[in-house]
Amino acid sequence: MNTSRKSFIKTLGTFGLLPWAITQSAAAQQLTTPSRLNGSNPKTLAVGSRNALRGVELAVSMMADGQDPLDAAVEGVKIQELDPDDMSVGYGGLPNEHGVVQLDASCMHGPTKRAGAVGCLEGIKTPSEVAKAVLELTDHIMLVGDDAKTFALQLGFQEENLLTERAREAWLRWKRNLNPSDNWLNEDGSNPTSTGTVHISALTQQGDVGSITTTSGLSYKIPGRVGDSPIIGAGQYCDQRVGSAGSTGRGEANIMACGSFYVVERMRSGESPEQACLSALQRVVEMTESRLLDDDGRPRFNLNYYALNVNGEFGGATMRKPSQRSLDNGGGTFAVAEPGNARLEPMAWLFD
Ligand code: GLY
Repeated sequence: MNTSRKSFIKTLGTFGLLPWAITQSAAAQQLTTPSRLNGSNPKTLAVGSRNALRGVELAVSMMADGQDPLDAAVEGVKIQELDPDDMSVGYGGLPNEHGVVQLDASCMHGPTKRAGAVGCLEGIKTPSEVAKAVLELTDHIMLVGDDAKTFALQLGFQEENLLTERAREAWLRWKRNLNPSDNWLNEDGSNPTSTGTVHISALTQQGDVGSITTTSGLSYKIPGRVGDSPIIGAGQYCDQRVGSAGSTGRGEANIMACGSFYVVERMRSGESPEQACLSALQRVVEMTESRLLDDDGRPRFNLNYYALNVNGEFGGATMRKPSQRSLDNGGGTFAVAEPGNARLEPMAWLFD
């Protein structure tokens, strides 16, 4: 770290402004280069995973007040990171096979063409903010493990126990039933564990985009496993000229397809956000090894994409049509917000 950055951080710390000081994006103050998809008319909009309903509502109200899209999206996903009842993200997330919560997050900022990410971060409730700090304060894109934690602690983040009693009990239940439910490959090739995650893509009326994805990753994963969420182009991706996309679901499949990058590239080629999400799912199918496909060649796992373009259009798609029971309970939906109107919208699906 050079002297000027050191003194900058020290000054913030002296005035008790860390880590909250970094929520005011230095990146946001840089000039935007206008460049639109096709003479678009952007509007204040945020989309995300279903669990981001409160988050997209907050993000849109922040952007309507003139705030930066990435700052707004990060504040949105923090609602889930800090919520102990969301067992797929941040505090309260399900741990790895050793009972340790390891968090992944990444973000991008369209106007400044910057990205930041953390992988295998322990002890910090809001990896989204640490990823944004990597984006804003460093010349790097990804920090991992203990060094990512050290970086966060240096910035003033607090180390805390992230394993809630509920998550610990769930982990103990899993341990008592080890095999065939662990993360090692079983003889029949199945690998039944769960993935959660929260994503938000955000667009301002000025046409600036930002994206963030954050997760506790695959439940009971092998320690050190990093999923798609902290991988730029997989867990999320945005391009100021086109739009933004993100993903939830089986990270390994999404990494193989560079899914969020692919969604943005399909939108660049003229596809609607929904069609681009379906195209990415099709690419995932094509990239899937046979042990993960059923007899009809359909993936056994689930994966979801969410996208918006700079015209203010949006869409989401999931791999399979949800069961009727799931649909009756709001399954197969994603979160969308415009000022004063946050709601769940139905997703398209690739397979009936
Ligand atoms: N998509 C979350 C994960 O696989 O870690």
